[in-house]
Amino acid sequence: MKVLVTGGAGYIGSHTVVELLNQNYEVIIVDNFSNSKKSVLNSIREITGKDFKFYELDLRDKETLKKVFVENEIECVIHFAGLKAVGESVKEPLVYYDNNLMSTVTLLEVMKEYGCKKIVFSSSATVYGNPKVLPITEEASLSTTNPYGTTKLMIEMILSDLYKADNDFGITVLRYFNPIGAHSSGFIGEDPNGIPNNLMPYIVKVASGELPILSVFGNDYDTHDGTGVRDYIHVVDLAKGHIKAIEHLSKGINYYNLGTGTGYSVLDIINAFEGVNGVRVNYKIVDRRPGDIATCYADASKALNELGWAASLGIEDMCKDSYNYVLNNKNN
Ligand code: NAD
Ligand code: UFG
Repeated sequence: MKVLVTGGAGYIGSHTVVELLNQNYEVIIVDNFSNSKKSVLNSIREITGKDFKFYELDLRDKETLKKVFVENEIECVIHFAGLKAVGESVKEPLVYYDNNLMSTVTLLEVMKEYGCKKIVFSSSATVYGNPKVLPITEEASLSTTNPYGTTKLMIEMILSDLYKADNDFGITVLRYFNPIGAHSSGFIGEDPNGIPNNLMPYIVKVASGELPILSVFGNDYDTHDGTGVRDYIHVVDLAKGHIKAIEHLSKGINYYNLGTGTGYSVLDIINAFEGVNGVRVNYKIVDRRPGDIATCYADASKALNELGWAASLGIEDMCKDSYNYVLNNKNN
C-alpha cells in the first residue's frame, strides 16, 4: 500500500516512516522542514535499509500537492504536519491557525479530488482540556486552553463534518498523550530548536550539560509527590500504533487514545532518568506553569480492543533512548 506521510521528517513522523518501511509499505514523505532537518531522511534510510519518495513542499501549496497525488497512487494519508508549540501558539495564533488549519483543508481537498479517502490524523490529549474524570476515555468532554489545542479540536470537527458529508471516507483520529524516547539506534529522535518547552527534551539537555538546571513547575499539585503527572509514551510504541490504525482503517470515523494508561510525575521521570542513565539531573522547584493541569493519563483500552495495540516499552526505555539520541547527536 502507498502511504503519504505529511510531516514525515518530524519527530513522530520519522519514527512512523521507519515502522511503515519495516512493514514493507511504500512511503511518500512531504515536509517543508519548518521544524525538522533534511538529514533525518538519510537516517531513516540507514535504519531501515529502504528507500522512499520525498517532496519538499508546504501543504498549503495546493498545486504542488496535486502533483504528488498525480505522480503517486496514494491510498492512505497519515497527517502529522503541523506546528505544535503551545506557548508559541499563544503568541502567534494566526500563524498556527493558518499553518495547521489551511494545510489540513488543502490536503483534504486534494485527497477528495484524487479519490483518496483514508486518513489517520495526529490529534492530542490536549483536546480533553482539564479532564474531570481519570483515566481519560475517548468519550470525555472536549475543550482547549490554547490556540494550538484549538487547531487540533477544529481539525477533529472538520474531519467529522467531512465524514458526515461523504460516508466513503475512512478517518482515524489518534489522540497522543506525551510522546518521548527515540529510536534505539540513536539515529532519529526529538531535537527541538532553542530552549525546549517540554520536560524530556529539557531533562536531556541538563543531563548532557547544555543547560544548567531544570525548573520543576510546581510541587503543590494534588498528586502523589505534588508534581504534575502525565502519561508518557515511547515514540516507537506510538509509531506502531499508526501501523495498527492503517491496518484497521475502514469507512467511518474513529477516535483512539494512544497512551500507556500509567501516569508518572515529574520527579518520577527525573528519578528514572538518573537511575537508568547514571547521571544527575539538577533541578529546582519553581512556580506552576500557567495553563498546566495536575494529572493526565489515558484509558487506552479502546485501542487495545479495536486495534490490537498496546504500548510495550517502559519508562526506563523512554529515558535511556531519549538520552542515547542526544549523546549520539551532540555535535550535529
Ligand atoms: P514535529 O514538529 O517534529 O513534526 C511535524 C513536521 O511537520 C515537521 O517536520 C515540520 O517541518 C512539518 N510541517 C509543519 N507544517 C508543515 C506544512 N505546512 N507543510 C509541510 N510540512 C509541515 O512534531 P511531532 O512531535 O512529530 O508531531 C507530529 C504531529 O503530532 C503534530 O501534528 C503534533 O501536533 C501532533 N502531536 C504531537 C505531540 C508531541 O508531544 N510531540 C503530542 C500530541 C500531538
Ligand atoms: N515540566 C516541568 N519543567 C519543564 C517542562 C515541563 O516541570 O521544564 C512539567 C510540566 O509542568 C508537566 C510535565 O512536566 O507537569 C509535562 O510537561 P510537558 O511540557 O512535557 O508536556 P505537557 O503535558 O504540558 O504537554 C504536552 C504537549 C502538548 C500536548 C500534551 C498532551 O506539549 O502539546 O503534551 O499530548 F497537548
